[in-house]
Amino acid sequence: MDGVAELRAKYLAKVAQAGDAAALEAVRLAALGKKGEVALMMRGLGQMDAEARKSAGPALNALKDELDSAIRARRASLEDAALEARLRAEWLDVTLPGRPRPAGTIHPVSQVMDELTAIFADMGFAVAEGPQVESDWFNFDALNIPPEHPARQEMDTFYMARAPGDNRPPHVLRTHTSPVQIRAMQAQGAPLRVIAPGRVYRMDMDQTHTPMFHQVEGLAIDRDLSMANLKWVLEEFCRAYFEVDGVELRFRASHFPFTEPSAEVDIRCSWEGGQLKIGEGESWMEILGSGMVHPHVLRAGGIDPDAWQGFAFGMGIDRIAMLKYGIPDLRAFFESDLRWLRHYGFAALDVPSLAGGLSA
Ligand code: PHE
Repeated sequence: MDGVAELRAKYLAKVAQAGDAAALEAVRLAALGKKGEVALMMRGLGQMDAEARKSAGPALNALKDELDSAIRARRASLEDAALEARLRAEWLDVTLPGRPRPAGTIHPVSQVMDELTAIFADMGFAVAEGPQVESDWFNFDALNIPPEHPARQEMDTFYMARAPGDNRPPHVLRTHTSPVQIRAMQAQGAPLRVIAPGRVYRMDMDQTHTPMFHQVEGLAIDRDLSMANLKWVLEEFCRAYFEVDGVELRFRASHFPFTEPSAEVDIRCSWEGGQLKIGEGESWMEILGSGMVHPHVLRAGGIDPDAWQGFAFGMGIDRIAMLKYGIPDLRAFFESDLRWLRHYGFAALDVPSLAGGLSA
């Protein structure tokens, strides 16, 4: 039968040309589908006489089988080719050199915040936070700084604008992290052990001052705390942070409205040939203010000063970053100079931990 030979040649060619699974399926339907050409011819068998049917029937069946197995074989080879292509595309040369480290670095201020968080966490201090735009009550009044107190002027405060006609006291950019003391007391009550690292703002600008800088506040409240506990915590912190056993601190009597008694703390250091060394020499560098929490402040935080005592401190983060990592100019911290960031920045994956070495 001529028709069979023609169909065979036509469809074997189409099978061979089908470039992907979809094209091959279309060929299969056109040949072997219910309305395909082979099926139509089979339906024609009924009109043939017995003799013709005898040869045409087996020929059509054989064609059907042949096309069917050609299609299966083609499908398998298309699948193989697709897998082959995928393997080639996803191949990875493990002998290539490693990728260069990411170009970004961790800013020294972030690094130091992570370091001090790890050290204080080890002493049982959790991290507390407060807003940078603060009400004057939290920033001043609650900290025993009433409206006419000279400390309000000394702090060179940035005031936020109020809508015209709104005569309430303006909000401020917080001038220190101390308002977080009040927020933490109100939120958690006593006993309490928190640190609060963050940004603070004062109108000041020279080689050692920027209008925005960083502090970390510390606050511990318990039944029986004294200056001795404060001294131990600060010495322990400095030993761990500066990674020097022989750190020496000097407590100088001072005054803050929110602590009584109050002390400023200096660290012994030396400047030789422009090189700063911690723990030796004849110089002292001021790093923090501290003291026993004033009873008015405890009360503002909702804590009974007859039942609880607390100590608090506020430390300059930028200052201790400069000291530890020998960074001379504070203003450069916030200029986003890429060369500076690459030089003083830290690798992103070196997360400070006490077990792993803080600044390893
Ligand atoms: N808030 C003070 C400052 O910014 C530092 C301080 C905090 C002092 C806590 C005593 C207790 O200078």
